Amino acid sequence: MSAIPDVLELHVHRHLVSHIVVGRDAWDRFLQRLTAEPTPTAVVTHPSIVETFPDLAATVRRLPDVHLLTWPEGEATKSWDSLRDLLDELFRLGFRRDARLVAWGGGVLGDLVGLAAALYMRGIHLWHVPTTLTAQTDSAIGGKTAVDTPFGKNLVGTFYPAEFVWVDPHFLMTLPEVAFRDGMGEVIKYAFLIGEPFLSWLEASTADLQRRDPEALETMARTCAAYKVRVVQADEQDWGMRQWLNLGHTVGHALEAMADYRGLTHGEAVLWGLVAEGLVACRRVGLKTIYLDRLHRLIEAWGGLRPLPTWDETRFWQALELDKKQRHGTVGFRLPLLVEPGRVEVVEDVSLDLLRQALVEAGLITGR
Ligand SMILES: NC(=O)c1ccc[n+]([C@@H]2O[C@H](COP(=O)([O-])OP(=O)(O)OC[C@H]3O[C@@H](n4cnc5c(N)ncnc54)[C@H](O)[C@@H]3O)[C@@H](O)[C@H]2O)c1
Repeated sequence: MSAIPDVLELHVHRHLVSHIVVGRDAWDRFLQRLTAEPTPTAVVTHPSIVETFPDLAATVRRLPDVHLLTWPEGEATKSWDSLRDLLDELFRLGFRRDARLVAWGGGVLGDLVGLAAALYMRGIHLWHVPTTLTAQTDSAIGGKTAVDTPFGKNLVGTFYPAEFVWVDPHFLMTLPEVAFRDGMGEVIKYAFLIGEPFLSWLEASTADLQRRDPEALETMARTCAAYKVRVVQADEQDWGMRQWLNLGHTVGHALEAMADYRGLTHGEAVLWGLVAEGLVACRRVGLKTIYLDRLHRLIEAWGGLRPLPTWDETRFWQALELDKKQRHGTVGFRLPLLVEPGRVEVVEDVSLDLLRQALVEAGLITGR
């Protein structure tokens, strides 16, 4: 018998292409595919989505072997309890490994349903039908799933990309103004990550987007989705290039944590983060101030930033240290910084002094 080495290598790959379908006919295409590929399916959504789109919900309910499940709204739904309830529901429905889960809603539902799909019988089919700006441009693409824990947000999860993401900009027409503006925080981030011509297009399209022109919404969703696809393709597991997407988020996450995730939207926090980290970028990687001016003008065009309460500076630094993207044992902060629109550099050792100066200048902490 040939000798078997004591270290065996098993090369494992999850062969999967994630199809992101963006267009004003995406919902119709979703229904066609659902019908053409019948398998036991649970479409999970919120009661408010059913109320907002009663005809669409009725169509889903009429499909053979398709169950429409409604789940509570809000971040509290991304919890262990809710995850267990959802898995239990799938057992009650008698789902097996060929079953399919569809998340029809925003990022909260996408993260929860994605994790349930990854865990149920070690993984079942997953589709997303994102209905918020955040979900269409960001959270439904790239496979991050999560629930929150008492120790922090999004700390338990998997990488489990959906086989199909059906991005129909029509859903954005009914999105409450607050949620739409919240999503614009990430879109403004994308504009600086992507660079020209998208940045100029976004500046010129403010009025069209504010009246929710479907064509403009589609262009915006498609451009952001295409960028995210490119980044995730290069770095699915978030060890390198995917961290570019974290632009503005290091400071943003700390602000959200200090606000106890209340009274400050994620989009607002990201915009504050873009401003503060932009000031760091000017000093550290030579970002020209004309780009910070353009950032400020875009922010103003979308209603400006509400002033934040004065926070204890020590708490701010503690919140920053807890950021998932900070690595153990490194000196200084690790930040993706904008060199110019379309170009990012991840800097490993931004000093506390430099960050502090930027935070003071941005008005986030008071100078001493
Ligand atoms: N997985 C990722 O990569 C990723 C990325 C970004 C954010 N996230 C997560 O996404 C979550 C935030 O998602 P969100 O901003 O989409 O919020 P959300 O999922 O809470 O949705 C916001 C609200 O809008 C309502 N709504 C949704 N679509 C609607 C529509 N078309 N018309 C009217 N009302 C509608 C919903 O019922 C909900 O109450 C957070 O938990 C965040 O951690 C995940």
